Amino acid sequence: METLERYEPLVDDFEAFLEACRRPLPSVVRVNTIKATPERATAALDEEGVGWTDREWSDTVLELDTDSPGSTWASYHGWIHGQEEVSAIPAEVLAPEPGERVWDACAAPGSKTTQLAALMDDEGLVVANDNNLGRLSALRFNTERLGVTNAAVTNADARNFSLKPFDLDAFDKALVDVPCSCEGTVRKNPTALDDWTMDHVRSVAGVQKGILRRAVQATREGGTVVYSTCTFAPEENEAVLDHVLAEEDCRLVEFDVGLDSRPGVTEWDGQEFDESVRKARRFYPHHNDTGGFFCAKLEVAG
Ligand SMILES: C[S@@+](CC[C@H](N)C(=O)[O-])C[C@H]1O[C@@H](n2cnc3c(N)ncnc32)[C@H](O)[C@@H]1O
Repeated sequence: METLERYEPLVDDFEAFLEACRRPLPSVVRVNTIKATPERATAALDEEGVGWTDREWSDTVLELDTDSPGSTWASYHGWIHGQEEVSAIPAEVLAPEPGERVWDACAAPGSKTTQLAALMDDEGLVVANDNNLGRLSALRFNTERLGVTNAAVTNADARNFSLKPFDLDAFDKALVDVPCSCEGTVRKNPTALDDWTMDHVRSVAGVQKGILRRAVQATREGGTVVYSTCTFAPEENEAVLDHVLAEEDCRLVEFDVGLDSRPGVTEWDGQEFDESVRKARRFYPHHNDTGGFFCAKLEVAG
């Protein structure tokens, strides 16, 4: 937990934050509305004797009283999908409509791709891209298991993604769930911080800037881009937004998903960021009993 000490100036009730980071995560699933309604999924859980509770902010997120949600009948049927609560935020913020064309720039293993497809009633197009060929099999497995038919899978570096293979000039929306230093996943994976280095934070921040810039370029005027990480480091969050706001024609917009969160920070380590990065939201583990997360919503200008 020493790595997290650097965030003491940013986090209220730092002891409660550290204490939450040491606790395991609750077991959370998302109902896959391509195959089932929340009523059907919860009835199946009831029948199997698996307890569940609603999460107030979302109709489809449930906490289960089992540590192995993947072994339930509802999961075998593809009616539920194990997905950390904060991981369900970005697709809700992007809010794709049926028929839209959406780019999921860093998609494997597909939790958010399949959530986007469900929000779109499996209509339109989700281009689910990842540069790691090995992770694409999990992405394909999840899309098939959950009954998604509107997704096309691509294997490319998102920083120079080409639209040529598709019959379109630009996407309506893009989800940019980038690779990161994963500090916020320490509750799920207690060794997540073992290999943390500042060099890795700096190098992954360069990749994040390139991917977010390409997403803004590949999205139509007036379209929406959502940027997310599962880390606390401002170098990978607000600093990336600050860079892209300066380089591309876009602006940040406010959002509220109904979970407790804090605004983006405008100063860090002697650096000042564009004031508008306050519109991004930081989700800390002790506020909603979740993993740590960062999410920002951008509107593409002309
Ligand atoms: C946080 S994970 C994505 C999780 C996924 N969105 C989900 O919800 O299941 C980040 C992904 O980015 C991919 N990645 C890393 N660098 C990339 C790049 N330059 N272009 C595209 N994908 C990249 C990694 O292989 C990894 O699968």
